[in-house]
Amino acid sequence: MDLKKSRDNAFKIYWEAVDAANPYKCVLDYMSRKADVLTVDKKRYNLNDFGSVYVVAFGKAATSMAEAVEEVLEDRITGGIVVSNTQPQNPYRKLGFYLSSHPVPDDRSLTAAKEVVSVLEKAGENDLVIFLISGGGSALLAMPSPGISLDDKRKVTEALLLSGVDKYGLNAVRKHISQIKGGGLLKKALPAKVITLILSNVVSDKLDAIASGHTVPDPTTYEDAWRVIEALGLEHKLPPHVIVHLEEGRSGHRPETLKEGEFDPKDVQTIIVGNNFKSLRAAEKKAGELGYNTFLLRSEDVYIDLLTDSGTSAMSDWQWAGMMLGDEAYAGSRNFYNLEDAVRKHYGYRHVIPTHQGRGAEHILSQIAIRPGDLVPGNMYFTTTRFHQEQAGGRFVDAIIDEAHDPAAEHPFKGNIDLEKLEKALRSGARVPYLSLAATVNMAGGQPVSLENLRAVRALCDRHGVPIQLDATRAVENAWFIKVREPGQSARSVAEILKEFCSLTDGCTMSGKKDPLVNIGGWLALNDDALADKARNLVVVYEGLHTYGGMAGRDMEAMARGIVESVQDDHIRARVGQVEYLGELLLSWGIPIVVPVGGHAVYLDARRFYPDMPQDRFPAQTLAAELYLDSGVRSMERGIVSAGRDPATGDHRRPKLELVRLTIPRRVYTQAHMDVVAESVDAVFR
Ligand SMILES: Cc1ncc(COP(=O)(O)O)c(C=O)c1O
Repeated sequence: MDLKKSRDNAFKIYWEAVDAANPYKCVLDYMSRKADVLTVDKKRYNLNDFGSVYVVAFGKAATSMAEAVEEVLEDRITGGIVVSNTQPQNPYRKLGFYLSSHPVPDDRSLTAAKEVVSVLEKAGENDLVIFLISGGGSALLAMPSPGISLDDKRKVTEALLLSGVDKYGLNAVRKHISQIKGGGLLKKALPAKVITLILSNVVSDKLDAIASGHTVPDPTTYEDAWRVIEALGLEHKLPPHVIVHLEEGRSGHRPETLKEGEFDPKDVQTIIVGNNFKSLRAAEKKAGELGYNTFLLRSEDVYIDLLTDSGTSAMSDWQWAGMMLGDEAYAGSRNFYNLEDAVRKHYGYRHVIPTHQGRGAEHILSQIAIRPGDLVPGNMYFTTTRFHQEQAGGRFVDAIIDEAHDPAAEHPFKGNIDLEKLEKALRSGARVPYLSLAATVNMAGGQPVSLENLRAVRALCDRHGVPIQLDATRAVENAWFIKVREPGQSARSVAEILKEFCSLTDGCTMSGKKDPLVNIGGWLALNDDALADKARNLVVVYEGLHTYGGMAGRDMEAMARGIVESVQDDHIRARVGQVEYLGELLLSWGIPIVVPVGGHAVYLDARRFYPDMPQDRFPAQTLAAELYLDSGVRSMERGIVSAGRDPATGDHRRPKLELVRLTIPRRVYTQAHMDVVAESVDAVFR
């Protein structure tokens, strides 16, 4: 690992994040002016409509936010005030500056608040007030409710904090003993037109929580504030003035904080110009530019591209010739019937519905077969497959054998279904629309399913009346592994095995971008007449008419021919052989990879490259980045990042495997390219 380079990159990413939060730039990102027209976000203001323009800035970032606004509005500012805890770099032309106290309010905070209010009192109906608010504003400005002293306020804050109050409880109370928090400043600025630009330091970006929400409606009431005090048992521990004030408020003798509906929203524009997410997004973008996300690289910056074998294969001369015979009729294209024939002949299903690629077929199948609440068992998830199942209301449950989760387990058919796990799912009481079976399981390292296992699975599913839908994306490669690894199969052709394998299932989704050797395309195939009718009706909506399903005629022709080529034993021997070549080389050098070597890719066991790195620090993503930095070889993370986030909690799903996939496109690279890849992996491992 090049430590210096990594350190430099880390700094670059860090400074990008910091720069994204630059208050001056954040204001200019949202505010601009052309002659008399001021544009704030997407809203335009004709400055000639206003008698006066006042600016009130407070918070730790107030000085540079105000500088930006002075730059935009120059001559048009009538006056205003900036309150912060640090001096501005340059004196303002039109605005006054007031140095106040932070984080503990003192007399300066009282004076600053009075200054602010005196500016707002000047603003009338035809004027514009621009607030610039950033974190720290609560302490920098203080104006307790009448009869309450700053000392009372301090005691309340201290007592609440010592009792373990949360931010929302604290704010509910503080807003109800203040004249300016909880929308108080907006009340004082109205009926002027008001623009508030906020630099948020609150993770949730809740407007009423940033600097105590001086210019936004307050969702809490005196009653809420009292409940917080009661819940913490502070009724007798707070200054008597405060208790009396809150009780008067509860009985309606004190004005409430500003509420939604008390002003015309057309007169008030409030926007967040910067927040934590803005910085994170900037950091993410920079990391991407530096090569820390292999999906964001430009292909011209990649030397050997092992990101995926999807759509990256080279087509043969016979396929290219087929492209010239494209029949681009909207309905009933000749190429569709050629495709239908090829699928029926080699995969054996009755109904064939083209889709633009595999996920198109997954979408249609999930929508027609899955109902909300259904359980969909399968042999390890694939990202797009599970997404569509969940989108349709289903819940995926993994029934793959345990060995699949152990990169070092030498089982010849690690894609097999564990019959006990499957039976448990079938007996769970939930409706099971189908078993989702993948041939060579991508996420387990390209691991196959045996014929023997599929026969047993079929028998079990039959007993429960549950159909099997195959993800046939790499079923030809699966058939090859059956031929070379399963007892009694070596004399059969891949084509024969494939046909028998599919005959044990009821339909398939297919990404034509893999086994069928094309750059784009896919299909949904079904044996059930009624289901196929439903699919044809739906495919029209999402993909195209059922005789083209989102594909051009020429692409269907190339796929029909690709199917014929893909089931040739010689082709598949060379294809899987090249993957094996790379795998064996790495194994001979002691590099930790998933064994046995899979059909389309070699999977590096990233946990063993970085034994001390916790999964939440993305070991596989780190390894993919390092490989690229070392040699320009692009690979793909197959671990915690690919596994996605739980839709309910937003937290990571934590897969057992943390892998980097070196996926080999078909008919593109030579063995010499594989040597370069192996040397780079070795260099990173050492
Ligand atoms: C096993 C498997 N199923 C389905 C798909 C989805 O296919 P597509 O990318 O054509 O939408 C893929 C894509 O990589 C895959 O590997």
